[in-house]
Amino acid sequence: MKDVKTVGIIGFGVMGAAIGLNAAANGYKVVYKELNDDLVKSMYDKFVAKALAKRVGLGKMTQADMDKICGSIKGTTTYDELAACDLIIEAAIEKMDLKIKIFGELSDACPKDTLIVSNTSTFLIEKLMEKVASPARTAGLHYFFPANVNRLVEVIRQKNTSDETYNALMAFSKQNKKVPITVKDFPGFAINPIFISSYLVLNSFCGDKYNAATLESISQETLGVKYGIMWVQNGSGLGTAYHAGASMVEYLAKSDIGFPPVPGLLKTMFEGGKLWDLNGPVLKDAAERSVVGDSLLGSIFCISTHLVEKGVVSVKDLELGVCTALAWPKGPFTLMNEMGMSEVTKRVKKAVDAGYFKMPRKFASGDLKPWEL
Ligand SMILES: NC(=O)c1ccc[n+]([C@@H]2O[C@H](COP(=O)([O-])OP(=O)(O)OC[C@H]3O[C@@H](n4cnc5c(N)ncnc54)[C@H](O)[C@@H]3O)[C@@H](O)[C@H]2O)c1
Repeated sequence: MKDVKTVGIIGFGVMGAAIGLNAAANGYKVVYKELNDDLVKSMYDKFVAKALAKRVGLGKMTQADMDKICGSIKGTTTYDELAACDLIIEAAIEKMDLKIKIFGELSDACPKDTLIVSNTSTFLIEKLMEKVASPARTAGLHYFFPANVNRLVEVIRQKNTSDETYNALMAFSKQNKKVPITVKDFPGFAINPIFISSYLVLNSFCGDKYNAATLESISQETLGVKYGIMWVQNGSGLGTAYHAGASMVEYLAKSDIGFPPVPGLLKTMFEGGKLWDLNGPVLKDAAERSVVGDSLLGSIFCISTHLVEKGVVSVKDLELGVCTALAWPKGPFTLMNEMGMSEVTKRVKKAVDAGYFKMPRKFASGDLKPWEL
């Protein structure tokens, strides 16, 4: 198994910076590559110097720890310095052609056993790595925002990923105090299909009867979360929410899994530079609220079951992943087991009848056995 000591990061933006800082804080040497010297400097000032100095000022980090982390970080604008890295994590902007080009260049610049991974949110890893010689050393390593706080990492095995590569990435993630789960190369991987379909379903109800504040309150109540799904969408920005939704629809809507459509309102909102207004009056009527809550749960049950039936992720890892990445107190399979499968089946049917998803095999066959957790 490759012993990772030095990590190269392509793209010193929000995600790249946090991924590298997490590695530097856990004993790795980190080399950041950016497009030009000005970006290397400005990103270092913003994400490393200022961010760590703030932590020191608040008493959350010692000056000695800050100096140690800063001492293990370098910036560059060329591939030369990356040739000495054991693992390279790509976190450049989400453009497929750019990423494919970067991986081709990395393949030419680095030794044949350098581990090469992408933090893409939406593209299939196998496609991104098509220009990499010896693809057995490639995979996905999908961190969640904010990557220095959120502990989940999806370790994405594409068809060609070797056991050695997978084991090295699991070990690297654990050394970084992350919670790694194993996921197959699949559109959006495992967690995003659940989160994205959840907000598309909720958004589709937004209108005169259900305002955004009501939908936020229903998602909080249904999932038992402090920050509901409308709030989280506002945090990531509605442009990101729209593009991620459109990408999932493109991959899955016509497949045997299906996917809820992107409501026109989401596009209008992001094009108008707006966020969901979470301060409006909240609808209290329990029956009206349960119409939305049941659709939301039915969709979560459908997509979770499809992901397991397609072998994308295990029940155990999906449960752990949802609770870790999305901070839901209960994962989809615990929610189903607690509700009982005949009630679950009613909600799944609603989601299928609404055209959000195709019927998963388990429910089509009338299997009412609870999930083994
Ligand atoms: N932001 C999130 O919530 C989130 C979560 C998970 C995954 N991701 C994925 O992480 C990746 C980065 O996202 P981000 O939010 O950090 O974006 P960002 O725009 O903050 O950072 C991207 C950086 O890459 C740099 N860059 C572009 N081309 C480059 C090249 N050829 N060489 C070196 N640097 C280059 C840009 O200058 C920019 O600083 C994307 O693939 C995104 O889908 C983002």
